[in-house]
Amino acid sequence: MSKIIFVSNRLPVTVKKHESDLQYSKSIGGLATGLKSYHEQGDTIWAGWPGVSSDDLNEQDMQTIDTELREQYNCLPIFLSEEEIQQYYEGFCNETIWPLFHYFTNIAQYNSETWEAYKQVNQKFFDSIDPIIEPNDTIWIHDYQLMLLPQMIREKYPDTQIGFFLHIPFPSFEIYRLLIWREEILRGLLGANLIGFHTYDYVRHFLSSVRRLLGKEHNLYKINYETYSVQVEAFPMGIDYDFFAKSSGTDNLSSEARDFIESTRTVQNIISVDRLDYTKGLPERIKAFKQFLQKYPEYHEKVRLNLIVAPSRVGVEAYDELKREIEGLVSAVNGQFGTVSWMPVWFFFRTFSQEDLIAFYRNSDVLLVTPLRDGMNLVAKEYIAARSDYKGMLVMSETAGAASELGEAVIVNANDYGAIAAGIKTALDMPDHEKIERNKMLHRRISRYNVKFWADEFLEALKNTAESHVETK
Ligand code: G6P
Repeated sequence: MSKIIFVSNRLPVTVKKHESDLQYSKSIGGLATGLKSYHEQGDTIWAGWPGVSSDDLNEQDMQTIDTELREQYNCLPIFLSEEEIQQYYEGFCNETIWPLFHYFTNIAQYNSETWEAYKQVNQKFFDSIDPIIEPNDTIWIHDYQLMLLPQMIREKYPDTQIGFFLHIPFPSFEIYRLLIWREEILRGLLGANLIGFHTYDYVRHFLSSVRRLLGKEHNLYKINYETYSVQVEAFPMGIDYDFFAKSSGTDNLSSEARDFIESTRTVQNIISVDRLDYTKGLPERIKAFKQFLQKYPEYHEKVRLNLIVAPSRVGVEAYDELKREIEGLVSAVNGQFGTVSWMPVWFFFRTFSQEDLIAFYRNSDVLLVTPLRDGMNLVAKEYIAARSDYKGMLVMSETAGAASELGEAVIVNANDYGAIAAGIKTALDMPDHEKIERNKMLHRRISRYNVKFWADEFLEALKNTAESHVETK
């Protein structure tokens, strides 16, 4: 028997302890959706962190969580202590790799203690999955938190099929070389038979770093490494198109969402939906909207920016500061342009259900997504799919991975406030027939290259690399 082991930092189920009560909630993120058909049917198990600190749990809690997750969710929990969360997750993952890989070289920190914690936690992940690995298993590892894990598995299991997918950008060599532990991370990744990225640019950057730092050339995206070969390819991640396109947009709405939608009726609506992150270009977006209001006064009282920001990585300093900056900018714009009957920016620092978000998408004339850097950005695809009448328009920055697939949208430079302001105007004024024409092409692409397609393609390619590995032995 062979099975698939998925490994990611976060499990698709989050556990919370409320007083002495353990609560389980399923995640609705892109990855969980993409792997759902495999995870719910076949012989699979998903290993990762359940999102709770083990310092808050006793032995009995951990036992209960372990049994519940294995039996009810096919998941293997890997518990992290408060210190591991601080050093590995908040520290090396989110204060070193995350900023550096998104080109924020000025805030990336290089700290040998957090690097040690990163190695130790990757080792902990290996030790936790080691007892369940069998000879013919396939292992698919996800994202930047676990870049050393492929090599750790390879050393003990030389013939196992190992896939790795990076969900964030892989930066150009000039940026990547700034990392102190750059060779170790490359060697960690090269333990996989197949390494996937969202775009060809990231593939090129990775191959160039491998060539310049390890002296290994590739031939048709294949690197001959030690006793095996590593295939490197782009697999742009998609969304569950049918879910967004076919959802009623009116079922299960919260009463707040209904009130909110009611309040949007008298104006044209621009929506923006992100996790709180400095990579998302949120202050820049508000400043660009301010320029829009300055430059085009004919829109005063007629347009509204609905800025939805989901709290994230609370405790990492750069995130706390960013929230304060956004609040300051929002109130400055509202103070300068607002009237008794009109508030130009509505800011929500909270999460909404997926049903609520779909209803908001349907009620919005424009989605404004202008990250300074983003591995892919699935919100853009969700918005397009949800506007099944083809009458919404996406304004997106070219530094989001998704921009290379969504050329029919209004594409702008995230640093160019004038261009964003002009892009907002273009999108708001675009005649219906043009929006329909552009959106039809986008829908065709997004529906075909959906998240199921993404997972199928990756696993198929992984199977093929393993077969060619056997042939060349
Ligand atoms: C990005 C990363 C994911 C991560 C998610 C949420 O999409 O690529 O690996 O899980 O952000 O961040 P968090 O730190 O809350 O897991």
